[in-house]
Amino acid sequence: MKLFIDTANINEIRELNDLGLIDGVTTNPSLILKSGRNIIEVIEEICSLVNGPVSAEVTATNYDDMIREASHLSKISANVCVKLPLTFDGLRVCKALTKNGYKTNLTLCFTVNQALLAAKAGATFVSPFVGRLDDISLNGMTVIREIRTIFDNYGFQTEILAASIRTVNHVKEAALNGADIVTAPSAILKELIRHPLTDKGLEIFLTDWEKTGQKIS
Ligand code: G3P
Repeated sequence: MKLFIDTANINEIRELNDLGLIDGVTTNPSLILKSGRNIIEVIEEICSLVNGPVSAEVTATNYDDMIREASHLSKISANVCVKLPLTFDGLRVCKALTKNGYKTNLTLCFTVNQALLAAKAGATFVSPFVGRLDDISLNGMTVIREIRTIFDNYGFQTEILAASIRTVNHVKEAALNGADIVTAPSAILKELIRHPLTDKGLEIFLTDWEKTGQKIS
């Protein structure tokens, strides 16, 4: 399973990319706002750091303007994956971009039927928003599991990119339920490393080691 980082913050990307943990990056207009950067410049910088796909989202809502924005974004780098809202026009743009060999990520997916349409439009990725479904007392993981079943039943190649990940359990559950990719904020990805028993065990080992009076050299 691949791990993407969900941020437009260069320092966060650099830190985890240096560790070899990052297979790609996802951004959205809210994350661009948070970064305080110009979208073209920051996407260009991210693409120069990371080898995998970098999702950059269009902000237009009609077909012609989305196509125009997609063309600007995809010129930045071959890494760019055009992120499109899961709307009527978003699906039309997805179909057109797919035909011309561009990578797409259909975002704001909340139902299995929406994911099915994204796959039929040839999307590279579809992004079900797990956390936002949980926020309204629905079950984001059920949606992931059902999309997996349907994609496998019909051999759809679209990858399931579990998004809106809020907890380390979301990461585990998404993997168990067959997501191809999880995109998560830096804090969650770093939290995956930590366990209190790891910290406690290390402390005991180091205290005992000091008592041996030895050095490894
Ligand atoms: O990239 C989209 C997504 O991950 C948003 O997450 O936490 O704003 O629902 P969140």
